[in-house]
Amino acid sequence: MTLAALKPQVEDIIKRNSISIDERLLAICNLLEENVPHYNWVGFYFKNGDKNELKLGPYVGEPTDHTIIPFGKGICGQVAVSNQNFVVPDVAAQDNYIACSITVKAEIVIPIFVNGKNIGQIDIDSNTPDPFTEEDERFLEFVCSHVSTILS
Ligand code: SME
Repeated sequence: MTLAALKPQVEDIIKRNSISIDERLLAICNLLEENVPHYNWVGFYFKNGDKNELKLGPYVGEPTDHTIIPFGKGICGQVAVSNQNFVVPDVAAQDNYIACSITVKAEIVIPIFVNGKNIGQIDIDSNTPDPFTEEDERFLEFVCSHVSTILS
């Protein structure tokens, strides 16, 4: 399925008021992981209260030990402070990287803004080397902006 074809399905999940926010976030993780071959671990991290750390939210894929990530640490922690998309074509080339699984070759992290504040992110790991394009970035920005509407 193309990324464009997934957009209406993301919108449908966002609108499902009968289920909780976490259930909707998990449904988005499942939708993406099942339909995009180069998305192999899909999860959300959110700022943990008033602490300068991220806490793992809903995710699909192998369980990770990294349920808490301090700001600045790893790809996720860097996005928490930079407020910028981070596309990593080759995780082995990154110094500040937290490995979750030896099968992972690449990673993309897109921040989620609520009222202009970076409150979390979507994090995707790929077992394919250098798989992410601008199309992924634009699509995941779409996902994050829609997720943002149910978090505010
Ligand atoms: N690789 C991430 C850690 C989270 S896992 O990918 C689930 C990082 O470097 O921040």
